[in-house]
Amino acid sequence: MTENKIIIRQAKRSDVEGIAYVQYHSWLTTYTGIFPDDYIRSRTPESRIEHLKKNWKGFEGDSADYPNRKIIVAENENSKIVGFVAGGEVFHKEQSYDCEMYAFYILQEYQKQGIGTQLYQEMLKFLKTCNYRTMVIWVLKENPACIFYEKIGGLAKDSMIDQREGKEYQVVGYVWDDIRQI
Ligand SMILES: CC(C)(COP(=O)(O)OP(=O)(O)OC[C@H]1O[C@@H](n2cnc3c(N)ncnc32)[C@H](O)[C@@H]1OP(=O)(O)O)[C@@H](O)C(=O)NCCC(=O)NCCS
Repeated sequence: MTENKIIIRQAKRSDVEGIAYVQYHSWLTTYTGIFPDDYIRSRTPESRIEHLKKNWKGFEGDSADYPNRKIIVAENENSKIVGFVAGGEVFHKEQSYDCEMYAFYILQEYQKQGIGTQLYQEMLKFLKTCNYRTMVIWVLKENPACIFYEKIGGLAKDSMIDQREGKEYQVVGYVWDDIRQI
């Protein structure tokens, strides 16, 4: 285990590259053997940067457009982003939840050292200030990260099918019924 001095803070616009790097590499180590290799590799850091710049206005300094969304990052002692969580108002409004953690990724060499728990706690603080009650995160059933969501208090209460590249994947909805009580 590496000795890490980790800073948890809100993302800034200039973090886009670092976040995209984490997302790409964490996808590689997490979903290889689950999603087709070509699909994983097609989600290059460049494509992630483009996606974030186009779709995400929840960064610090530009949050007026999306007051209820945030990305929180974990940064190491060299100011390198090693993990992030994105969350806010529920993405698919037809779902019966108030808020959602949309994406949660940490570089493999930084996993299982408590960083995910710290990011979750910081996201929770923000979501509570938005007065949300119910929260969900959708996780592929075969992803071992399901254990993490159980450990931080999510209940596997919901499910759906995710279609990608012509294949169907089972997804579990980990639900918090009332985050105000945490
Ligand atoms: C899932 C993830 C965000 C959790 O963050 P983390 O920093 O590794 O989690 P923590 O160190 O805070 O772990 C908290 C607890 O969950 C457990 N845990 C975390 N990830 C786990 C995993 N993949 N398998 C089994 N247990 C896991 C830890 O062992 C720890 O247990 P303990 O309290 O008994 O010691 C991180 O491991 C990750 O990025 N995984 C790969 C990407 C991914 O699958 N993201 C989720 C997509 S929905």
